[in-house]
Amino acid sequence: MWAQTANSSERPTPARKAVAGPGFRRGFPSALREHAEFVRAFLRSPGTVGALCPSSRALARAMVAGSNLAHADLVVELGPGTGAFTRVILESVGPQSAFVALELDERAVRHLQQRFPQLDVVHASAEQVHEQVVRLGRKHANYVVSGLPWAIIPTELQKRIMTNVATALAPGGVFTTFAYLHSRLAPSAVRYWRLLSTLFREVRVSALVWQNVPPALVYRCVR
Ligand SMILES: C[S@@+](CC[C@H](N)C(=O)[O-])C[C@H]1O[C@@H](n2cnc3c(N)ncnc32)[C@H](O)[C@@H]1O
Repeated sequence: MWAQTANSSERPTPARKAVAGPGFRRGFPSALREHAEFVRAFLRSPGTVGALCPSSRALARAMVAGSNLAHADLVVELGPGTGAFTRVILESVGPQSAFVALELDERAVRHLQQRFPQLDVVHASAEQVHEQVVRLGRKHANYVVSGLPWAIIPTELQKRIMTNVATALAPGGVFTTFAYLHSRLAPSAVRYWRLLSTLFREVRVSALVWQNVPPALVYRCVR
């Protein structure tokens, strides 16, 4: 899956099946409702949502592939939107793991609270990731999973968010993010990937996830 040899100490986590909540009936009407909610969020705030479709389950699974979430002490998600990654993270974390999601859009926060009543979702910017780790009484997070639209986030904000992510992660902690195939060579995206290589000792790129609209790549960065 990854462009370089994966760290053998980290094994893929078997997904847990039963997670309560109304949004877990993934029939056509439920997927359609999620898409409608996502499009409404885009229309409210195109400059922070940055996509017209929620990520697919295939991309969500690629985002956590190779991460041992079942044994994580703390997992943080940035920009959960309607919860495409959130759902797979909730299925994968262990009973002892804390999991917090930071979302800027207030209505998306309410939607997530309804969809996943067990989720700790905070109406906050991703810049506050380290503050949230401290709020939860931890020194560090083990995993930070990002759904943020980097290609449309200004460079200075990218830097502030990523400096906070790097501070929040434990040594050996993992940050995962994704890029759409068509936008990964945009100047802001290229600046962002350069920034990642300055903050992480290892950055690996996944195989292309075709089962996503649009197709995407996952970046897995080890602190
Ligand atoms: C492209 S959507 C991705 C949603 C979901 N992760 C997915 O992949 O389907 C980006 C989300 O990031 C949120 N967002 C954008 N900037 C943010 C920031 N600085 N802090 C927290 N959330 C942010 C938006 O409100 C939106 O819900």
